[in-house]
Amino acid sequence: MKPAGIGGFGSSMLILGLNMFHADASAAIVQDGEVVFAIAEERLNRHKHFGGFPALSVKACLDAVGARISDINHVAVGQDSDANLAKKVQYALKNPGKILNFIRLRQRKEGMRNVRSLLSKALEVDSGELRFQEHHLEHHIAHIASSYYCSPWEKAAGFSYDGSGDFVSTMMARCEGKGIEILDRVFLPHSLGSFYTMICEFIGYKKYGDEGKVMGLAPYGKDTYCEPISKIIALKNGGFQLDLNYFKPLGSNQGMQVLPDGTVRLARHFSERMEGLFGDPREPHTEITQRDMDLAFAMQQRFEEVFFHLLNQLHARVPSEDLAMAGGCALNSVANGKLFQTTPFRRTWIQPAAGDEGLAIGAALHTYHSVLRQPRRSELKHSYLGPEFADACVESELKKSRLRYRRLQREPLLAAVAEQIAAGNVVGWFQGRMEWGPRALGNRSIVAHPGLPNMKDVLNARIKHREWFRPFAPSILAEYQHEYFEHDHPSPFMLHVYRIRPEKRKELCAVNHVDDTGRLQSVTREENPLYYDLIKAFQRKTGIPVVLNTSFNENEPIVCKPEEAIDCFQRTKMDVLAIGPFLALKSEN
Ligand SMILES: [Fe+2]
Repeated sequence: MKPAGIGGFGSSMLILGLNMFHADASAAIVQDGEVVFAIAEERLNRHKHFGGFPALSVKACLDAVGARISDINHVAVGQDSDANLAKKVQYALKNPGKILNFIRLRQRKEGMRNVRSLLSKALEVDSGELRFQEHHLEHHIAHIASSYYCSPWEKAAGFSYDGSGDFVSTMMARCEGKGIEILDRVFLPHSLGSFYTMICEFIGYKKYGDEGKVMGLAPYGKDTYCEPISKIIALKNGGFQLDLNYFKPLGSNQGMQVLPDGTVRLARHFSERMEGLFGDPREPHTEITQRDMDLAFAMQQRFEEVFFHLLNQLHARVPSEDLAMAGGCALNSVANGKLFQTTPFRRTWIQPAAGDEGLAIGAALHTYHSVLRQPRRSELKHSYLGPEFADACVESELKKSRLRYRRLQREPLLAAVAEQIAAGNVVGWFQGRMEWGPRALGNRSIVAHPGLPNMKDVLNARIKHREWFRPFAPSILAEYQHEYFEHDHPSPFMLHVYRIRPEKRKELCAVNHVDDTGRLQSVTREENPLYYDLIKAFQRKTGIPVVLNTSFNENEPIVCKPEEAIDCFQRTKMDVLAIGPFLALKSEN
């Protein structure tokens, strides 16, 4: 792995941010207020949504800046087991059956708090060498910090929502200068994220992180169950409240458990009441019926109603046009794409790692700005915060694999790859630093022609094996967005879904979802010159300023290292691998 090109740290301040013993464990390093490297542990240990201690990520952060753990000035964790303690105790006392569970969770969390011993063990150094100060930050403050401090704004409304974190599911804040002022919290068991998870489980999507899949199913449904589903979650006193009769008691961890090996497991969320109203729950891998699609439709619709209600409440208290947002639910790109029509917010800055891996960045930046009172830095303009690999390292892996390949200069490489895409071939595109967050944004991507009617089936049959209803996404040159989409607010991190203009739907048929929308990535030359120029080269051949972009993986975490990309290329029916300056064709291998 090659250092991220950051110079010596000398007198500069280094802050290590951590999300640990929680889903999507991660580490990030902030040098003098700038996020210089960030990675989720799953990319390194290949264990999806890993929720243990991010030892490999910490090592990667230190290597990236050429530091030792003894050089770190501050360690910030995006979790605070003491936050909202009175509410937790109150909840445990009201639910005597859960008291033992509550005590066990507290004991486990206390054990986890010893960051010093965890780090000295993971890095095999004497704890006496560690001179950092330790900070623990409440989960949702870390989410909001991860967005606001990366945004270009000096003032904004801050919003975070997810299943749960430190006994809270939703937070509203006023962000100004260096500070984040908390205005409101929604405490467990009331959670918009848990509402979504419960219905996803009912229709057979039971794994942690499955919610994004069901979002793609929703537009296949009809308005059959909107009324009964809306009763599960009521708008109340400027917030919302779940009708708990539809839920199993979930405990203070809201049904999410991290096993000793770091696997994240969800407890059953739905109660018998759901079965009484809607029949038997669907088992995974069985046929998806109209009922399941209609439930997905109603779930997404109610989710959006509550979300927009909350945003309007937030705007009434913070009358800004700028919204800084994070939390797992902020990955609901369908809702994000509609908020400009349904709320007064006109601009969003959504953390590319809106889920819990983003807590590492949030905790570190909060320490820098809010605790240490250091000035704001420039905005985070791209998500390429992960490792990169020198050409020599890539070539050595290619040699080991015995693949036949050619080395090309930049322009011939772009022309050759664009020609392959235009010819309908599927290209693995592995370049530069890996993306931070769950989306592949042109550095660990599989790219293909967006206008071939069979391309979705080809990708699924040959590589991705995804459910038939899940759409593929377009990457579009930013200056053409308004010609192809009905909304022109940028979507640099693939976190907004917009309608595709009627006259362009045929041209983009492989990325046009059943409701004529696309979850686009708007690409600027400033953010990713090589990827921008690849799309430009494809446009020169076809007239289309768009490529289909899906993550470079096959039922595994997105590839991180060259050998993982090469292995994925060799074991799937991918046609082309463009890895650094090297090009390998399946037809020649
Ligand atoms: Fe979260």
